[in-house]
Amino acid sequence: MFKKLAICSLLFTNILFATNEVNVYSQRHYDSDKALFKKFEEKTGIKVNLVTAKAEELVSRLSIEGANSPADILITADIGNLYEAKERDLLQSATSKTLEENIPSHLRDEDGKWFAITKRARLFVYNPKKIDSKDLSDYFSLTKPEFKGKVITRSSTNAYNKSLLASIIAHNGEEKSLEFVKGLVENFARNPKGADKDQIRAVASGEADIAIVNSYYLGVMANSGDKVDESIAKEVKVFFPAQNTTGTHINISGAGVTKFSPNKENAIKLIEFLTSVEAQGELAQGNYEYPINPKVKPAGIVASWGEFKEDTIALNKVGKETKKAVEIATKGNWK
Ligand SMILES: [Fe+2]
Repeated sequence: MFKKLAICSLLFTNILFATNEVNVYSQRHYDSDKALFKKFEEKTGIKVNLVTAKAEELVSRLSIEGANSPADILITADIGNLYEAKERDLLQSATSKTLEENIPSHLRDEDGKWFAITKRARLFVYNPKKIDSKDLSDYFSLTKPEFKGKVITRSSTNAYNKSLLASIIAHNGEEKSLEFVKGLVENFARNPKGADKDQIRAVASGEADIAIVNSYYLGVMANSGDKVDESIAKEVKVFFPAQNTTGTHINISGAGVTKFSPNKENAIKLIEFLTSVEAQGELAQGNYEYPINPKVKPAGIVASWGEFKEDTIALNKVGKETKKAVEIATKGNWK
């Protein structure tokens, strides 16, 4: 009798546990995310189990696990990998009025397979003592001969640059995009190395005069508590490219419900929470990304750079050109 009861209660606990959890595969490893997951647990009683790894690894893990995957949500820090997951049929459609209200339509998939959580602008950071902002316009302006030896950015193999180039291809076609890559490489101050913050540091040190980077890195440096990085962030300036044409390239961190999600309802609840006014405020203040919920304002330093026109091209079109972007970058010798 006791044994039977014990088995019953074990089963019951398992069922209870199973219905009260959500399993997240995330590329993002920020403290702000962990704090939000904790808050979600407190509010809902739904336990968040987090696995973090590189996006490519998470996507292939989902693919290998197939129907046995415990994952409910895939979160990436770039549209390219989310698009890839959608194309490989690793995500399922989710419908939610709350998500439609929280996220503008160009920042969610038309089939409900991914939803933006945050956005970031890929912009220019420059040394105002060396560069006159009047000489800057769109991304192509960095290929002008006067910028020879002055431009810096990380490797083309990085997801942020792949997506930037993919957006340039989507807008301008392959031929013009190859010209862009060749012109950019021609103007490089050094062979690409390091991450975005390293490019900003190189601008401050005089190794280069202008860098292509993601917006939030400057916010992070300005509030890092590191005296050197904080003074660098004060010395450089921000320029939003392509204000008279396509708008500044936007990339997203985004989430999708996995195809075989065992806890789909909980998955949708968590994405709803992450895009809510409360969570968006914390993401904006914690990591200096732009909120995707229009009701939420960016952090003070981010707001101080001013409002700008963003590229509102459908991000699936950008995702679609990612493979082409790799080809063109290789052809144009962008390491
Ligand atoms: Fe990043």
